[in-house]
Formats: sequence, structure tokens, C-alpha cells
Amino acid sequence: MQFDEVVLGRRSIRGYKPDAVPQALIAEILGLAMRAPSSMNTQPWNFYVITGEPLDRIRRGNTERMLAGVPQSREFRTGEAFAGAHRDRQIGVAKQLFSAMGIAREDAAARQDWVLRGFRQFDAPVCIIITYDRAVDGSDDTPFDCGAVATALVTAAWSRGLGTVINSQGIMQSPVVREHAGIADDQVIMKSIALGWPDDTFPANAVVSTRKSVEEAAVFVGFD
Ligand SMILES: Cc1cc2nc3c(=O)[nH]c(=O)nc-3n(C[C@H](O)[C@H](O)[C@H](O)COP(=O)(O)O)c2cc1C
Repeated sequence: MQFDEVVLGRRSIRGYKPDAVPQALIAEILGLAMRAPSSMNTQPWNFYVITGEPLDRIRRGNTERMLAGVPQSREFRTGEAFAGAHRDRQIGVAKQLFSAMGIAREDAAARQDWVLRGFRQFDAPVCIIITYDRAVDGSDDTPFDCGAVATALVTAAWSRGLGTVINSQGIMQSPVVREHAGIADDQVIMKSIALGWPDDTFPANAVVSTRKSVEEAAVFVGFD
């Protein structure tokens, strides 16, 4: 695939075929992703690639704790609730997804099902937990670097026909993930990426989210 085709075609995938993903293919994708730049080439990222029974235990643990009302416990700052344009965009993509899935605004049960799907990692056959070295905790460059490698990872996966969705839902109950993935104490859990072969019959997979324009985002200085 050409670069433009990959970047413009990629979208988050929230419905997967059950088919396994070969370990060698995931390793190849990680190798491509790790060509991402990082602050002073520190490469603070690491990956726990989980499938099978350990992933099922994480799905169960996440779901049980969320249903039991256990408060979220992420290992990084989350900031305030979105407001203004950010809130509008958050609602915008949610509306697109719910519309594609035929989930009505007042259908609390269907909305709950949708949320639980996220805590199950969208039933994907693979989940990649991105962690970073605790030694570089405290530098804002570290999450920046993890974002760079995550973007490279999802585009590399797409170029190989694999779908992904970067998500926070998978790591909102970090102790569950830490236990079942055996995450070392010197690692901080950053983000989760569900990965697998896209189910083309799953309506939400067709959703193309909007973007603000370059004119809105960019300030060009010194150009005539
Ligand atoms: C840091 C981050 C956290 C995200 N968390 C979730 C999540 O918890 N659940 C979800 O369904 N999507 C999640 N997403 C996916 C975004 O909703 C998605 O990337 C965005 O709406 C743009 O859509 P696109 O990826 O299809 O282009 C997350 C994405 C990022 C980068």
C-alpha cells in the first residue's frame, strides 16, 4: 500500500474476526513501529502482546470491576473532563458510532453493551499494552514518544491488513492488566491497542471520523 492509502484508509476497528494473528506478523509490525522518533532516541516504550487465556482473564477482570463500580485506576494523569470544542468532537464521533450501530440515545442497555465491548478489548484476538520505563516517568516527552510509536504501530498494522483501536478502556483497571499480563514493576502502563483482522460486516468499522481543517489547526508564520 502507498503511504496516503494507509493513512487515509486507516480507521479504528471495533469488531474483529476471531482468527488468530501470527506472532511473526505482530513482531514485524512492532519492528516497523519502533522506527518512530523519540526524545534523544531514548525509546522508552515496551509492548506486552497478549492473546488467548491471559487476555480472556483481563477481559473478565475489567468487566467485573467496571460493573462492580470499582473506580478507574490509570497510571498516568487524565486531566479534566472535556469541554467546548473537545467535548463537541467527543460527542461527534460517539454519535457517528451509535448511529452506525443503530444504538438509540435512550437505549441504556445497548449503550452499556457498547461500553462493555471496550472493556473486553472489542473481542479482538490480540491486545497490545504499551508501557514505558519507569526510569523516565515524569518527563512529558515520554507519553509523547509512546504516542509516536502507537501511531506508527496502527498504521503499520493497517498496511498489513490488520485493524486496531488504540484505547483507554483496556487500561482503566490497570491492576487487572498488570497482574494477568505479568507487567514488571519497572514499567508504567500507558495505553492499550486491540488488534486483529477487521470484520467487514461490523457497522462501526465503516465509520470515518471527521478532522478539523488544516486552516483551523495550523498557524503559518513567515509565509507570503
Ligand atoms: C489516547 C486514545 C485513547 C482512546 N480511547 C478509546 C477508547 O477507550 N475507546 C474507543 O472506542 N476508542 C478509543 N480511541 C479511539 C478514538 O476514538 C479514535 O482514534 C478517534 O475517534 C479517531 O477515529 P479514527 O481512529 O477512526 O480515525 C482512543 C484513541 C486514542 C488516541
